[in-house]
Amino acid sequence: MSGQDSMQLRYLAACAIAQEAGNLIRRRFLARDEVLKLTFKGPQDYLTETDSEVEKLIAKRLAEAFPGDGFFGEEGGGAYGTNTWIVDPIDGTADFARGVAHFCVSIGFMSQGLAQVGVVYDPMAGELFAAQRGGGATLNGKPIRVSGIDDPAKSVVELGWSSRLPFEPYHELSARIHGLGAGVKRCGSAALGMVAVAAGRQDAYVELHLNAWDGAAAVLIVQEAGGWTNDFLTPECLTRGNPILACTPALREVLVQAMGI
Ligand code: IPD
Repeated sequence: MSGQDSMQLRYLAACAIAQEAGNLIRRRFLARDEVLKLTFKGPQDYLTETDSEVEKLIAKRLAEAFPGDGFFGEEGGGAYGTNTWIVDPIDGTADFARGVAHFCVSIGFMSQGLAQVGVVYDPMAGELFAAQRGGGATLNGKPIRVSGIDDPAKSVVELGWSSRLPFEPYHELSARIHGLGAGVKRCGSAALGMVAVAAGRQDAYVELHLNAWDGAAAVLIVQEAGGWTNDFLTPECLTRGNPILACTPALREVLVQAMGI
């Protein structure tokens, strides 16, 4: 089988598995009063039983289909190799845990250091964002593009933050982006924030520290939708995370400056 065919197979499998996993998350979300037990991994860092359950399902399906591939998941960890799946079973766990319908499954595939496949599925909206390197980005099968916004004062910028960094740098970054005249918001799922950029629903997603599993799928979707991202998936990102900027090409310079990256 050619390399291209095997990538196409991975793309199709990732789309199917993300939807199966998403449907499980949806069922658990709708039944949450009976089954949800809240636990925390750290300050403001939620863990639900569903995160682990869904990650195990995705890992099992991928291992059955591609036994030679590596796997790294947010909850169970894993190992990075030449071919590796990078998975966040629920991005937006805090919202999931608190009964807010804004979360997704994120499945990315990297080969030899390059993102090749990215799939983000929002099970409550029934929206499947997907990209294969060189093949464009789609939402439920239809091509998507970033917006043409080039004036920061007309832009909508999502700023994410977490307790992994002190709050002060986020406060300063927020002030700088407000100072550009942008509309600033935070919605609680980096992957959904980035694919919203890909679909032209907002113009940038910025966060000073993001883990690889949160952004691995969405960076490719943004790039394939004509957007720009910093070099997020560096080797260091896989172990310690990186800053993320995903935006329309026209906003790149001004936001790179605002972030100081
Ligand atoms: C978090 C979300 C949040 C972002 C954090 C992430 P999780 O991921 O993507 O929007 O600001 O940096 O850790 O914990 O919901 O998988």
